[in-house]
Amino acid sequence: MKEKYGKTYGSYVYGIKELHTEDLDIMREVFVKQANHFLNRTFIVVADPKNDHSVIRNIMPLQQGENWKRIRYASAIAFTTGKLRKILPHFNKSAHMLVREIEYYANNDHEISVHGLMQKFGLTLNARAIYGLEINAFDENNSAFIKHAKQFMKDFSFFSPKAMFMSMFPGIVRWFERYTDYEFLSNDAAKFFKKLLNQQYNKHLDEIQNGIVTEGAPDFMQILMEAIEEENKGQYISQDDEDIMHSNIKIASKKQHVRKIEIFGQCFQFLLSGFDSTGLTSIMTLYILAKHPEIQTKLREEIFHVCGDKEELDYEDLRGCHYMYQIICETLRMYPPAVRTNREADSELVINGIRIPKGCQIAVPIYLIHYDDKYYPNPQKFDPDRWLPEEKAKRDPLTWLPFGYGPRNCLGLRFAELQIMMGLAHIIRKFEFIAAETSPDLPVDISSKGTLKTITELFVKARLHN
Ligand code: HEM
Repeated sequence: MKEKYGKTYGSYVYGIKELHTEDLDIMREVFVKQANHFLNRTFIVVADPKNDHSVIRNIMPLQQGENWKRIRYASAIAFTTGKLRKILPHFNKSAHMLVREIEYYANNDHEISVHGLMQKFGLTLNARAIYGLEINAFDENNSAFIKHAKQFMKDFSFFSPKAMFMSMFPGIVRWFERYTDYEFLSNDAAKFFKKLLNQQYNKHLDEIQNGIVTEGAPDFMQILMEAIEEENKGQYISQDDEDIMHSNIKIASKKQHVRKIEIFGQCFQFLLSGFDSTGLTSIMTLYILAKHPEIQTKLREEIFHVCGDKEELDYEDLRGCHYMYQIICETLRMYPPAVRTNREADSELVINGIRIPKGCQIAVPIYLIHYDDKYYPNPQKFDPDRWLPEEKAKRDPLTWLPFGYGPRNCLGLRFAELQIMMGLAHIIRKFEFIAAETSPDLPVDISSKGTLKTITELFVKARLHN
């Protein structure tokens, strides 16, 4: 299509008008300058504010209009730097478990499945940091937790038969779900997580109402509930966190209640994003490091220099690892978990001479932009130096979109970065990673149906570093 029609062209996708664009000026209008007209995203599964049962129908990415603003605004407070610092002890604890797991493989000279390892790390960390559950996903006895998370991700994919059915008969499915407590997409998984969420919610509600101060680090659900409490009281925070707060978006009414099922919806989605998107980035970063020993050595030197051999790493330690951040940025360029995103026009508009009808979906192909050699010469090459401050400053920020852009960007971007950095800082210090003999060369083959996945499983070996 691109060869024939250029960087911007219109088409129909499942009967919806779509404008595909890689034009940075049009993207700037959509994501930034006229963002107020493009706040909604088109999804195959739609939100249902009247549904009091479904955790899935209440997740943030599906929400529209004022409903989205209310939930985003209240939740964003929980993602500010100050709040994230509070949950870092959970990140450290999970990274210690990751180290112990790798030690076992290193001592026995076994190959490690990078997927298995990093997904278990993601689940352990997110179960602890978000739900406050003392779960160790490395232990096979916790397989129910892993099984349900995996099942849900499979069903949630754009191409799963259930998601297709929901898109073909949205009214029937929505009506059915609203009046029963059946979750069409992944009933068993949704029930499993809802039960866990309910237990934690009741525990925290009791603590908040009775002024009980819990020992140790709070979990994210607790922080979210407290943030919503603060928001409802009209207290507010500084604008330090503009990249997630987006002060240019006006909220119709700040004091609006966030329902219990909506809190469940957000916590549920945060867990899955930690498992799926952050998991993929951790997998790819570790594999790339195993394939690039010189980059791995340089990173190890930086970690020792910045963090020494401290067991508990804090926010400043992680933020001080600039080279590690460059490596993660480059991994996200080459392997962005979300290969595309979209926005829906709320009215008829003309942008750069193109008439955009109301309801038209503007589709932005993140992956293609990341491989455009105009912005990234030799795009197949993994090169963290592209992210040196002086190199980065030469590029338009809209050429790097792993977390999307504008007021509807990824709310968990800093949470994700901290999760990846915490894992890497602990394990690269202790181990040297080598790609297993059978492992494919870079760049690895990927499938971009739904979120990005590698076609084959990736394996590495670990040796204790002296
Ligand atoms: C490397 C990891 C991650 C990547 C690459 C990623 C990527 C994305 C992308 C591309 C979007 C759509 C943005 C847009 O359309 O402009 C998004 C939305 C979102 N992400 Fe992430 N994400 C990651 C991890 C996380 C984590 C860990 C959380 C929560 C803890 C999270 C929470 C969200 C939320 C709530 C939204 C919806 C925002 C809204 O609709 O207002 N993400 N993410």
